[in-house]
Amino acid sequence: MHGKTVLITGSTAGIGKETARALVARGAHVILVGRDPRRAEAAAEELARGTGRAEAMTADVFGLRGLRDLAARVRERGGRLDALVNNAGANTDRRRLTADGVETMFAAHVLAPYTLTRELLPLLRGGGRVVNVTGGIPGAPIELDNLQAEKRFMGWTFSQYNHTKTMLMAMSHRMAERLREHDVAVNVVYPGHGDTPMNRQVAMSAFPYVYRPLAPLVRLIAPLAFGDLAKPARSSVHLAASAEVAGVSGAYFGQNLRHRPWPRTVLDERVRDAVWDLCEKLSA
Ligand SMILES: NC(=O)c1ccc[n+]([C@@H]2O[C@H](COP(=O)([O-])OP(=O)(O)OC[C@H]3O[C@@H](n4cnc5c(N)ncnc54)[C@H](OP(=O)(O)O)[C@@H]3O)[C@@H](O)[C@H]2O)c1
Repeated sequence: MHGKTVLITGSTAGIGKETARALVARGAHVILVGRDPRRAEAAAEELARGTGRAEAMTADVFGLRGLRDLAARVRERGGRLDALVNNAGANTDRRRLTADGVETMFAAHVLAPYTLTRELLPLLRGGGRVVNVTGGIPGAPIELDNLQAEKRFMGWTFSQYNHTKTMLMAMSHRMAERLREHDVAVNVVYPGHGDTPMNRQVAMSAFPYVYRPLAPLVRLIAPLAFGDLAKPARSSVHLAASAEVAGVSGAYFGQNLRHRPWPRTVLDERVRDAVWDLCEKLSA
């Protein structure tokens, strides 16, 4: 990765920061993005130590203004972008709207990767890689009349978190088709569990009902079982950097770095159309 530049959203903590650390170790220059300037600077300083290959940028990537402003600064900075890792995520316990009036997890997991990738396309064109990070338990049918949780936010096995992570997959599948002519690869990774600030702060009411009895046990064992964040960072690092996946696009990879089949709902063209159309409409 020497001479290559990677931008990672949500990289001042958690899995994103470990992804950045691993890419710096492989020789890449990494642009770290978080909301808080001090946390972003501290993370960049820590990772750049002795190499100078990390820099910080601050932006709220859940809002269109923040995304466009970030992209403008990256374009002004100059140079190519060899990989973009859309990693920042959210898990809210009830339906909340962003300043744009968009349901927050739709904004974080679907609209943000859609918007940032399009805004940075001039820098990615001709060999760039986009890595979109899914999570939770993706795969249940995408509800076309409920994309922004207008009808339900939580259920026995349903949650808007899982729903939006599945929609991210549908959006990415379509984006991979669209960006093929620009020679930009778009893939989705599943990182696996990590004991991160997001997981530690998530409210019990953010879990679908059937998982709630298990949640305290998972929390108890999480620091021991899932404390090594280098493991969940591996799939993003692999898709952003490995020569093994050069030319691969429109694929879904699991935490074991192997291909996984797309959920059936993602293969439904009507679903991909609906998610894509909503992204186009919201970002217009
Ligand atoms: N942890 C898991 O077990 C797990 C499992 C599967 C998938 N995932 C997915 O992996 C990704 C990373 O999760 P994580 O658990 O590592 O999260 P995390 O530890 O909470 O890290 C969140 C990062 O996102 C940044 N961030 C949050 N809101 C932001 C915003 N509006 N704008 C810009 N940056 C923002 C935070 O920066 P500041 O706080 O400094 O602003 C921080 O750098 C997410 O997409 C998550 O859904 C996680």
